[in-house]
Amino acid sequence: MSYCDLTEKTILVTGASSGIGKQAAIQISQQGGEVIITGRDDSRLKETFNDLIGNNHVMIVADLVNEDEINSLVDSLPVINGLVHCAGIVGPTPAKFIREENIKKLMRINFEVPVLLTGRILLKKKIANAASIIFMSTVATQMPYFGGALYNSAKSAIESYSKTLALELVKRGIRSNCLSPGLVNTPLIKKPVSDGQMELVDESLGRYLKKYPMGIGEANDVSNAIIFFLSDESKWISGTNLVMGGVLQ
Ligand SMILES: NC(=O)c1ccc[n+]([C@@H]2O[C@H](COP(=O)([O-])OP(=O)(O)OC[C@H]3O[C@@H](n4cnc5c(N)ncnc54)[C@H](OP(=O)(O)O)[C@@H]3O)[C@@H](O)[C@H]2O)c1
Repeated sequence: MSYCDLTEKTILVTGASSGIGKQAAIQISQQGGEVIITGRDDSRLKETFNDLIGNNHVMIVADLVNEDEINSLVDSLPVINGLVHCAGIVGPTPAKFIREENIKKLMRINFEVPVLLTGRILLKKKIANAASIIFMSTVATQMPYFGGALYNSAKSAIESYSKTLALELVKRGIRSNCLSPGLVNTPLIKKPVSDGQMELVDESLGRYLKKYPMGIGEANDVSNAIIFFLSDESKWISGTNLVMGGVLQ
């Protein structure tokens, strides 16, 4: 058996139509795992699906801000051994401009959705003993950037939820951990401009990047850690938050 082998594990990955979730799903399949991928965009999710190695993978298009879609996703699941919450959005808004609709939008997908999805999976007994649950936070909870108050607050909340969940599930050997990467080169932080070039979605991120002695990360820098946390090699680790990106201060 190879290091971080995932054979005989079935793993649900949200946000699998893009960025870190996409890369994680592909690597899980390379490690022998069966993946259930979900995302909103049908054609990009299909691209991920076509990149998976091996058989028995499943693709489910769902908008997870809709609780009915969470419930029908969970109803369609087999018992899973791993859950990777990658669905998320950013929405830089300076504090003085924050309105209720901004709060609802940012908190919904970054905090409420992973909480509701995890709860429903537990309630419906769709997760095996010794399974691994991974949440995505951000280094920005510890090193804020201008305009990031809502995003950082949602991610701080998910860090706290993950820790409490780890305590509640320890008797079943189910582990819950958070990853907190620095900036990663994905569509979350970059948008296309003319001539196929990409630029940062917000100029304040450019200033933020100056704090990165190791530079911007790639999706596989994060998914390598996701694979470790899903595998039995990390079976003694729960309730942690792994800060990634060499952000030293
Ligand atoms: N990139 C970074 O610098 C960075 C740093 C730290 C933490 N993170 C966190 O890492 C996670 C993955 O980020 P990423 O960089 O891979 O972002 P990304 O490339 O923009 O991908 C985000 C994913 O979330 C999905 N999503 C968004 N809203 C959704 C909804 N309502 N229902 C279902 N799926 C939804 C998207 O689906 P569709 O595209 O199909 O709509 C997409 O698959 C996020 O939680 C993010 O906060 C990212």
